[in-house]
This record gives sequence, C-alpha cells and structure tokens, in this order.
Amino acid sequence: MNKVFWHFSRRSQMMKGSIIRETLKITKKPGIISFGGGLPATESFPIEELVVATEKVLREKSEHSLQYGTTEGYPPLRELIADFLGRRGIKAKTDEIMITGGSQQGLDLVGRLFFDWGDSVIMPRPTYLGAIQAFNAYDTHNIGLRSDDSGITVDTMEEEILTNNPRLIYLVPTFQNPDGRTIPAERRQKIINLSSKYGVPIIEDDPYSEINFQERIPLAMRAMAPDHVILLGTFSKLLCPGFRIAWICAPKEVLDRIVLLKQGADLFTNTFGQHVIYEYAKDGALDGHIEKLKVMYKSRRDKMIQSMIDYFPQDVKFTRPAGGLFLWVELPENINTTELLPKAVEKNVAYIPGDAFYPNPGGYNCMRLNYSMPNEDQIEEGIKRLAELFIETLDKQGK
Ligand SMILES: Cc1ncc(COP(=O)(O)O)c(C=O)c1O
Repeated sequence: MNKVFWHFSRRSQMMKGSIIRETLKITKKPGIISFGGGLPATESFPIEELVVATEKVLREKSEHSLQYGTTEGYPPLRELIADFLGRRGIKAKTDEIMITGGSQQGLDLVGRLFFDWGDSVIMPRPTYLGAIQAFNAYDTHNIGLRSDDSGITVDTMEEEILTNNPRLIYLVPTFQNPDGRTIPAERRQKIINLSSKYGVPIIEDDPYSEINFQERIPLAMRAMAPDHVILLGTFSKLLCPGFRIAWICAPKEVLDRIVLLKQGADLFTNTFGQHVIYEYAKDGALDGHIEKLKVMYKSRRDKMIQSMIDYFPQDVKFTRPAGGLFLWVELPENINTTELLPKAVEKNVAYIPGDAFYPNPGGYNCMRLNYSMPNEDQIEEGIKRLAELFIETLDKQGK
C-alpha cells in the first residue's frame, strides 16, 4: 500500500487554523473576560419576535420555507434588502441581489469568480482576517497597503496596480473589522477613480455601516460607483449570525456568474431562515432593533475608550471608532502581542493579536478588541487587567 493514502489538494494544504477560533476556545475559561470574539451581544437577540415569526413561517409558509429554494434567494427578502439599501442611497434592483450563506460565503464566491491561481489582490493592512483566509484558498498574492486614521492609504495604490495587475481591491470601508476605521468620501473617490482607470473591481464588505454612532457616514462606495463595486452585507451583526443569511449586491452580469458558482457550492441558502428573517423584518422590526443595538454598543464603546484613557499607559495608542464592533490597540514596537497573550489569559483577559489581520507579516505590536459582547462592567475590568499587563511589560523592558 502507498505510504501516503490521502493526496490533499494544494489549496487544502495551504489552509492554516484561525487564531480567532483558537482564542474563542480560551474564552470558555471560567472568569475570563474576552475581547477576542466578534460576536454580537447575545442578550440583544429579539427572541420573542423571532418565536412569533418562526411559528408563522412554520404554520403558514411551510410549503415554501421547508422546501428547496432558488439559488438567488427568497424574492421578498431580496426586495426587502433592496429597499433597505435604497435608504442608504444604494440603488439596487432585486435581481442585483443574491442571498448567501453568510458574507463569508460571499467572499469565497467572489474569490472563485475573480482569482486564478496566484492573482494579486489589494487590501488594507490590517483587514478582515476571514477575507484573507477566503482569498488565500485561491493562493492570492495579497498586497497589504498601510492604513492611517482614515483607513487604507492610496499613495502607493496606483504603483501597485501598475506593477501587480490586481484582480480586485478588497475593502471594509466603514467601521472596519479589526480597527473600526472609516474611509472618508474623498479617499473613497480616489480609490474609485483608480478602479475605473485601471479596470480593477472593488469589493465593499459592509457588515457594520448600520451600526453607526454618529449622524452621518460617507456614502457607500457601491452608491458612488455601482458599475465597479460589489457590495457584501449581512444580517449577522444586525440581527444574529446563527441564520447565516447575508447578501451580495452586484451588477447583474456579475451576479449571474456568482449564481452558477453558488449552485455548485450549496444550491441555495437556508430557505427557512430567509423566510423567518423576512417575516420578522417586513414591518420594520429590524429598524427598531438596529436602533437599540446602536445605543447598547455606543455605551460599550464609550466605556472601553474611557477605561483606556483612565488606565492605559501613555504610549499605548488606540483608535476611536464611530461605529461597528471593534477597536485597535497599538503598543510600542518592541512588544509582541502574540507572546503576551498567554500572560493576558493568566490575568483572565483575552484579545486577538494584530498580526492575524495582516495580509503580509506585520502588526505584531497591535491587538483587536471587541466591545459588543462584554458588558460595561466587564469592559472596565478587562481593560484594567490589560493595563496592568501593559504596565508590567513596559516596566520590565525599561529595566
Ligand atoms: C468584515 C467582515 N466581513 C464578513 C464577515 C462575515 O460575516 P458573516 O457572519 O455574514 O459570514 C465578518 C464577520 O465578522 C466581517 O467582520
């Protein structure tokens, strides 16, 4: 018999475990305060309303909701999403929207559609780890461009496009996971100009723009350039991730191809969940729910920032996001947050080390903190514990 029986694909051999999943395991440790996950607050889930919607869907809609569905998704839900996007200035027809099994599936499908083995993709550093993972499955050459307070910088973007001929520009332009940064309108326009000059489509991954703590946010890139931008949205953070229901909004010619790819992947997204979300959201309940989330997450964000001001040493920097679920902490260059993590866990506090969010090596002195899951008391206590650790580490280095 051959020594090696399983001949795994090159793709599967390149996949690495996710530091986030590893850290989520730590969060099961009793007494730990975790800033590591990216979960919406469990106590926010509108259980009673979902029970009513579920019962109605089961009793009155079972012939469709329990049956095979179309790959594009449940038409009334797609219409509802088109209307929802319309209120943010994104004009989308129902046939430009497809339902996916989470935005994570959207990222994989986009990868399948655009990347041949080894193709380049431009993205910010840091950026969403799940996108890096999804694209790595296609052996992409990831070009991470530096970020400043306004997100991805554009000074070297044109040069990178000319040198590497990227197939896509991947962005989370509003309240990015992991740093909470938002790209302002003027920079969005510059990126769009480069996209159209060189024919490089933009992926606007947008789970967070509705979780907005300020009055105005920049116009969605999809609204600025509907022909160049593929938008991904999701119910995961606006309602709950368990349904795995999200959407892609793209020009029809792009969507038609994604539909074919999705057929091969899973035929269609969970029909039952689509019906329940539609039933729940159709009379405006989702809007009210999002308003509540904004209030809850804003006070958690405020608590985290105030605690960091109160307890962190001066030379620790952090972002102050105006929405979303995360902020980004930057320690002095010589501190490695991966090495620090076991010590943090000893102190019963967890985070995700920054290098996980870098498409190329880097970010070793940074970390992502989540403020949607822990409550305000836990936030203050967890930040105190982190501050203690930082002070001890900096003191030791000073000696
Ligand atoms: C930027 C970004 N894109 C996509 C996703 C995946 O979302 P979903 O739960 O819809 O798969 C997340 C989840 O955290 C995210 O932060």
